[in-house]
Amino acid sequence: MGEIKDRFKAETDIVGAEIKQLLKEHGTKKIGEVQLSQVYQGMRGITGLVSETSLLDANDGIRFRGYSIPELQVKLPKSEGGSEPLPEGLFLLMLIGGLPTSDEVQNLTSVWQRRSHVPNHVFATIEALPIATHPMTQFVIAIMALQTESQFSRKYAGGLNKKDYWEATFDDAMDLIARLPRVAAYIYRRKYKNGEHIQPNGLLDWAGNFAHMLGYEDEGFMELMRLYMTIHADHEGGNVSAHATHLVGSALSDPYLSFAAGMNGLAGPLHGLANQEVIKWIFEMREELKTELPTKEQITEYVKKTLSEGKVVPGYGHAVLRKTDPRFTAQMEFGKKHMPEDPLVQTVWNVYEAVPPILKSLGKVKNPWPNVDAHSGALLVHYGMVEYDFYTVLFGVSRSLGVLASLCWDRALSFPLERPKSITTDLVKKWLKGEEEIWGE
Ligand SMILES: CC(C)(COP(=O)(O)OP(=O)(O)OC[C@H]1O[C@@H](n2cnc3c(N)ncnc32)[C@H](O)[C@@H]1OP(=O)(O)O)[C@@H](O)C(=O)NCCC(=O)NCCS
Repeated sequence: MGEIKDRFKAETDIVGAEIKQLLKEHGTKKIGEVQLSQVYQGMRGITGLVSETSLLDANDGIRFRGYSIPELQVKLPKSEGGSEPLPEGLFLLMLIGGLPTSDEVQNLTSVWQRRSHVPNHVFATIEALPIATHPMTQFVIAIMALQTESQFSRKYAGGLNKKDYWEATFDDAMDLIARLPRVAAYIYRRKYKNGEHIQPNGLLDWAGNFAHMLGYEDEGFMELMRLYMTIHADHEGGNVSAHATHLVGSALSDPYLSFAAGMNGLAGPLHGLANQEVIKWIFEMREELKTELPTKEQITEYVKKTLSEGKVVPGYGHAVLRKTDPRFTAQMEFGKKHMPEDPLVQTVWNVYEAVPPILKSLGKVKNPWPNVDAHSGALLVHYGMVEYDFYTVLFGVSRSLGVLASLCWDRALSFPLERPKSITTDLVKKWLKGEEEIWGE
């Protein structure tokens, strides 16, 4: 653990000094102009954040510290006999910068195993909720219950020196990531498996142990979890879960409070909840058409019906991406390798052929291509995980890797309280008439 922390500190010291210098030399340089429409329309295209862990290209998709998903599938360490990357490796890449070795990855697996203890009151808090409570709500409440363990919060109350914020944040981030699989698996087994819980297996990697605690021993499912936890981990800084974690963290709320905020955002249907919406939509289509494998013509008609009811086609479109999401492609490759004959997976591929031309024909959809959520559910169903309400929790466990690595950077670089300027339409009208000015505080 000490070694990871030391390397993180050394790396952030270097980058911190570079930022200081470049702001001194170029701090007043303009990087863009803001149009009125952008202010009203979700701040799309406004560059206003720094997030070191990953960068999204509209056409090429996500790159983690410069590496694409296909590159990482080759270069990151795997489990013995496995072919999918271990998410521990991606975390180290995001946190420190370079590609980790197998030994470094194994060391992190052991660190997280040692720190994975979840206190009983967290389970008691989950048990106090009605069983029907959505798994994401249970997840967020459990994270809040875990906040009693925050070292940042305790040390801050005791008078923490500013220069030590990063270290308490780092420790909380490590503890929280280590504990999340146990919490998530507990919610799953409680809600869907009669409360028959499964103890952790200390011989498994982080994602493999998560699969085990969920109750899936199939090596294929473990491989899927390793891939799933890797590809959902981060999508640069402006998406709702990353931005919410960063924003709340900027108030010096501890990592538990900040991450819970991010997870509340992930629970929205335009963000992480879309993965449950996709499979629900496909199940409903199959039910209505009374077939396991609808034809492309039938899918086309069903998509048109969905649109005519004023609904979005879940799993399609993106605020930034303008091509097929490489995270979709990675899952498609996994499907081709492990389950090419599965009718649900084939339906996902048929939907992929049917939807883009229809969305393009609407003329307003900026990206008619599938995103990560269009595929994930079908792979999970293949291994028997049919409880789609739970899928966003899997996404959340994975997302912890990116947003908490970023939060460590935020504290190490001493990023200040985030506080953009907002305006009123009344002010806009006066500004347009030349009666008032709009400027930042
Ligand atoms: C992801 C998403 C929220 C991005 O929103 P956005 O940046 O505002 O997207 P656009 O600029 O392309 O939206 C322009 C119009 O196209 C519509 N549109 C975008 N994606 C659509 C989809 N999959 N199905 C139907 N209509 C869609 C929007 O609703 C909007 O319509 P409006 O002007 O009538 O309000 C949007 O594509 C969406 O709702 N997708 C489905 C949900 C989903 O898969 N979410 C997971 C994202 S990873």
